[in-house]
Amino acid sequence: MRPAAMVLKKWLLLVLWVQECCWGSGACGKVLVWPTDASHWLNLKLVLEELSLRGHAVTVLVPSANLLIDYESFSPFTFEVLPVPFTKETFTAALEDFLRLWLYELPNLSYWEGMAKVVKVMAVFTEMSKQTCDSVVLNPRLIAKLRQEEFDLLISDPLSPGGELVAELLEIPFVYTFRFSEGNTMERLCGGLPAPPSYVPAIAGGLTDRMSFVERMKNIIFYALQDVLFHQVFWREWSQYYSDVLGRPTTLCETMGKAEMWLIRTYWDFEFPRPFLPNFEFVGGLHCQPAKPLPEEMEEFVQSSGEHGIVVFSLGSMINNLTEEKSNMVALALSQIPQKVLWRYKGRKPDTLGANTRVYDWIPQNDLLGHPKTKAFITHGGTNGIYEAIYHGIPIVGIPMFADQPDNIAHMKAKGMAVELDLNTMKAQDLIDALNTVINNSSYKENAMRLSQIHHDQPMKPLDRAVFWIEFVMRHKGAKHLRPAAHQLTWYQYHCLDVLAFLVAWAAAAVFIAVKCCCFCCKKCGRIDKKKKME
Ligand SMILES: *[C@@H]1O[C@H](CO)[C@@H](O)[C@H](O)[C@H]1NC(C)=O
Ligand SMILES: *[C@@H]1O[C@H](CO)[C@@H](O)[C@H](O)[C@H]1NC(C)=O
Ligand SMILES: *[C@@H]1O[C@H](CO)[C@@H](O)[C@H](O)[C@H]1NC(C)=O
Ligand SMILES: *[C@@H]1O[C@H](CO)[C@@H](O)[C@H](O)[C@H]1NC(C)=O
Repeated sequence: MRPAAMVLKKWLLLVLWVQECCWGSGACGKVLVWPTDASHWLNLKLVLEELSLRGHAVTVLVPSANLLIDYESFSPFTFEVLPVPFTKETFTAALEDFLRLWLYELPNLSYWEGMAKVVKVMAVFTEMSKQTCDSVVLNPRLIAKLRQEEFDLLISDPLSPGGELVAELLEIPFVYTFRFSEGNTMERLCGGLPAPPSYVPAIAGGLTDRMSFVERMKNIIFYALQDVLFHQVFWREWSQYYSDVLGRPTTLCETMGKAEMWLIRTYWDFEFPRPFLPNFEFVGGLHCQPAKPLPEEMEEFVQSSGEHGIVVFSLGSMINNLTEEKSNMVALALSQIPQKVLWRYKGRKPDTLGANTRVYDWIPQNDLLGHPKTKAFITHGGTNGIYEAIYHGIPIVGIPMFADQPDNIAHMKAKGMAVELDLNTMKAQDLIDALNTVINNSSYKENAMRLSQIHHDQPMKPLDRAVFWIEFVMRHKGAKHLRPAAHQLTWYQYHCLDVLAFLVAWAAAAVFIAVKCCCFCCKKCGRIDKKKKME
């Protein structure tokens, strides 16, 4: 189709949508979206598509260099392309550096050396985020144009900074949608989410909600460390940037705290029970759907597995390649199980690949997990894959690598539907044992089915809930009635330390006076006694 015709079609569709909505409820809105990339974008896109279908006009700000946001082909969204000085290649190279660091270098480094390396690699991403922000906030013409559009709402992901700043500049409410941050730092420190250190674990992958004395001690120290690190180190540069742009002293965290709603992509099937706030909502699994039929060749292979069934194996879209040694070891292990294996892998075909294993560039993961022959899922533990496994009730063998993955697998392990392996230390036999455990021991399948039933038994589908709350904020121009007053308090007021200090001082003064009085009386009595004895 020629570009002009495409624009026309897009325009017609938009008009149709807008009319349909305005005829219906008269509540059409204009939504601005701050970009987020990779798997975060895939999730957000589903929400945006639903908003479009309901007649809202969606405008997405998009950096000219990005991974997955295809702003050139036809789409129901309007794209505002932000010219950025980096290219897709530099972005991909930075990602590869990051992956190499996690997969191959970190295991050989000490904790502090590793941390220093991570901070260095993350600085590259921060720089790119800043350049993306610059392309908006330093462009008065774009700001004026966006202001003129009179958006009702901005949707952002707190893991890609800048959205809240643009919302502040345009003076519009904003809503967050994301998985959740590492150790809940952003929700806890900026969103005001209460997290009692006695049963809400902060350490990714390490702890569950049942902690021993030593673990609780570790947890509380970890919370304190996080507070200092995030406020004083990681967010410092951004706080300065935000203050400069807004022309008043502020911090990244304070600006984040202004979010009207936090839509979190998990649910009680995944989370440990914990306190929650009224402006937080769970929308986990919003991308999950019933399985569709498989491609014919794949279905034939799956059916050929007989009563043993199949194992689905994917390390996600970021890990395309393993070292030769690792891939051979994995292939050897897979060749020794009675199940058939569908492995999503783009690297060189391992020499030890068994007849029961097929390698694919891409697999329809959700449809495979929903297939009645599927027995187990080997995954890196990304939130999307975890939710597909919960949705379809499939036990997991988790090989977590970085970011939220260790934490995700730890949750699934604690819920009894996963076994965890470490890619750096595992042997072929470990993988065989893990697969046999989750397949032979029925407790894993039972737990998976139990969580699946919990997931399906909700008053509202997660996607509908996400859209409801976004529309709610548009209808009411915010959700201030859900916002806890915690945001107005300083940290010592929040913990009532000032009151405690006052009470302690008061009690101390009372004790002091009492002791003094006693002494005084005793002395006086003593003197009277002495006098009596003398007489
Ligand atoms: C890490 O250490 C292992 C053995 O200790 C070694 O085989 C490997 O080559 C090292 N990797 C790097 C990147 O130095
Ligand atoms: C996979 O990595 C190896 C080195 O570890 C490299 O030689 C090979 O070219 C890579 N293959 C692909 C498809 O990226
Ligand atoms: C588990 O089941 C497989 C067949 O699926 C069988 O080969 C293996 O021996 C079983 N392992 C145990 C420990 O029962
Ligand atoms: C199955 O796994 C559970 C949880 O790890 C364990 O408690 C139970 O003993 C296992 N059952 C068998 C028969 O191995």
